[in-house]
Amino acid sequence: MTQAEGAVASDAGRHERRAYYAQARANYPFNHWWIAATASEIGRARLLSRRILGLPVMFYRRVDGTVVALEDRCPHRGTPLSLGWLEQDRVVCGYHGLRFATDGRCVRIPTQEQIPRLACVRAYPVVETGPFVWIWTGAPEQADTHQVPVHPWLTAANWVAALGYIHVKANYMMLKENVLDLTHFAYVHRSTFEMDDDYGAAPACTVENGQVSFRQDFLNKPLPPFYGDACGLGSKPVDRHDLGTSLSPAEHVFTAQIVNREPAAGERAEYFVKFQHMTTPETPISHHYWWVMARDHGLGEAGRAWMQTVIEAGFAEDKIILEAIQAQAESTPWPAQAVEISVAADRAGLQARRQAEALIALERDRV
Ligand code: FES
Repeated sequence: MTQAEGAVASDAGRHERRAYYAQARANYPFNHWWIAATASEIGRARLLSRRILGLPVMFYRRVDGTVVALEDRCPHRGTPLSLGWLEQDRVVCGYHGLRFATDGRCVRIPTQEQIPRLACVRAYPVVETGPFVWIWTGAPEQADTHQVPVHPWLTAANWVAALGYIHVKANYMMLKENVLDLTHFAYVHRSTFEMDDDYGAAPACTVENGQVSFRQDFLNKPLPPFYGDACGLGSKPVDRHDLGTSLSPAEHVFTAQIVNREPAAGERAEYFVKFQHMTTPETPISHHYWWVMARDHGLGEAGRAWMQTVIEAGFAEDKIILEAIQAQAESTPWPAQAVEISVAADRAGLQARRQAEALIALERDRV
């Protein structure tokens, strides 16, 4: 038994006693940047309300266009502030009219001069970059805006990208495990993506600088239509290198590098396809899932529309599976059947659980 196989066997033993998803728990770090919304969701006409890591948060834009994120709960009687309206940059609670500034301080109570010290809501650090708005849910003084990832394929002219959102009634780690083990493609997506890649063995898994990666090489194999049609190579045998990395509990990036060893006239030697999977817990048993598919070929609106349609259909299939697992976990009594075993293809997914657990442990150490 190799060291990696031994680790999987050990993990299997650890989780066998109780299935990971059988307990609803906050298995996510708070001192972290998470995607909160797409930039186009946030404006001034409507106050956006969203639960993030169990926290009620509301979003709007200042008069100058910058984004504000405030606790969506008035400290007076608990009314969601998102039911109110804006007065310049201030939020007016829609129940008794308390006003809140962008830093969360109450600045006016209509029926008295004195403002109690505790009359405030939490203000969250936010960063808008490309099509996304990120939020820091931890201690504000630890928010480092330089840690917010920026990816060129989202905005560069030589890339085309499609973007979507799916609400998933399942723990966010399920989605992370799903995208770290693509051996499910031949089963879950057999009628949409039509990729029946022959894995033969589980993908290689590495952990470096707290990031979990898998890699699978398909050498001198015909491209599936999912890739071959867009780059114009059809089913020509090429080398395809699949590399997926969980950069953090919030984000996973996948790259398909297509190497065309003998390019004919009009063909390129390399083509790239990117996927981003951004997971933000809503509660312990639900999450927000933003996805991106981008590529450096097949540009233009027709290419983008194709990606939008195909990916929406395919990822809807993942939602069905993950929500069924969550429902199963909640309804199966312990200890009757609440067990799970792990196989070699779960190496990266199990490491992703550890990645999150390590960050959570750091938070506990700070307390
Ligand atoms: Fe907000 Fe009363 S609940 S002002």
